[in-house]
Amino acid sequence: MEYQTVILGAGAAGMMCAAQAGPGTLIIDQARAPGEKIRISGGGRCNFTNLYASPENYLSQNPHFCKSALARYSQWDFIDLIGRHGIAWHEKTLGQLFCDDKATQIVEMLQAEMTSAGATLWLSTQLIALSRRESGFSLELEREGKRVAVTCRNLVLATGGKSIPKMGATGLAYDIARQFGLAVTETRPALVPFTFSDGRFAPLSGTALPARLSNARASFDEALLFTHRGLSGPAVLQLSSYWREGEEIAVNLIPDLPLYDLLRAQRQSSGRKALSTELARHLPAKLIDHLGPMLDLSGNLADQSDAALTTLCARLSDWRLTPSGTEGYRTAEVTLGGIDTDGLSSKTMEAKTLPGLYAIGEAVDVTGWLGGYNFQWAWSSAVAAGRAI
Ligand code: FDA
Repeated sequence: MEYQTVILGAGAAGMMCAAQAGPGTLIIDQARAPGEKIRISGGGRCNFTNLYASPENYLSQNPHFCKSALARYSQWDFIDLIGRHGIAWHEKTLGQLFCDDKATQIVEMLQAEMTSAGATLWLSTQLIALSRRESGFSLELEREGKRVAVTCRNLVLATGGKSIPKMGATGLAYDIARQFGLAVTETRPALVPFTFSDGRFAPLSGTALPARLSNARASFDEALLFTHRGLSGPAVLQLSSYWREGEEIAVNLIPDLPLYDLLRAQRQSSGRKALSTELARHLPAKLIDHLGPMLDLSGNLADQSDAALTTLCARLSDWRLTPSGTEGYRTAEVTLGGIDTDGLSSKTMEAKTLPGLYAIGEAVDVTGWLGGYNFQWAWSSAVAAGRAI
């Protein structure tokens, strides 16, 4: 069978690309359903883009690479698309846009777009072998227990990253890229919780508060969540993309709280109140219990000198921790790194040394922050390739 274009992977990027590439396009996936990560994303409501998406929200060895695709198919273009499909949405926080109803609306929309563009979708299909031919590629596929030979002029790698192997994530795009001489940068789990091997935070499991998490490279003000294994929540997931094994992180537990002034005022009006009781009005009581031995929270407010309050606030705003590691690909939302952007055109996502080969979405070394940025990259890179094909 001969197709103009074969797209490997019917996830966010692959489906969007098929909708653009149109007739003569075959899109295949090993899964039984397309867009499984879209379906489970955003707690079932899909955080499909971010109002503030811009190149600064992406990590890559070449921070300029994502600019062209993001500019030519922006969050506003995607908002326009879902508007045309009558999908209602809302902003949750920090520009993050979610479906009002359910994430499967986005999957259905992409399927409808692919169908009207004339693309063919094969599910439960495995790639058995792939080679180059004079004007394109030869693929051997296995579908419904049968071997099928397919040839195509264009091949699009859209099989995503390694995150969540249980959902069928594989390193296929990286393997094919290497097979055709493209470099792949180091890949690591990102947007992933931190672990502490001594289980020190287990008693705090479920406790959450707003915090600022920082290291030498980045700083995020979002929620911090204590878990049985360590730390999670948006602030932690964000910082994990900028963290390396063995590094210390700084946690500010009172980023927006004028605690020093509040404690001094209370010392004036309620000096006999225990310091720990007053602190528990501003921070979770379990956390105060946990920090007690480290901070010496004994005594009443009246016992605290200005210097003691200054020291206390300084320690609460600069709590240093060294995670043992992360939860890895098992729970990571994305894979950092991927197909080296040096080998790709930023306008079309086509391999510079192998015309007809394209790479899009998470498989490429472009990784977004938490908050709808990764789907926006999937849409933008897919449209760049789809329009060029
Ligand atoms: P994607 O992973 O979507 O698709 C790859 C496809 O390739 C899959 O359908 C897979 O089955 C197929 N495939 C893989 N290997 C194959 C093989 N060997 N043969 C055939 N097919 C193969 N982002 C965001 O912006 N907002 C959000 O709300 C969330 N939420 C979220 C929740 C969870 C739990 C996760 C794990 C991830 C997110 N993300 C997210 C990240 C987002 O899901 C991710 O960045 C995009 O899905 C990437 O799109 P791709 O199309 O590149 O890969």
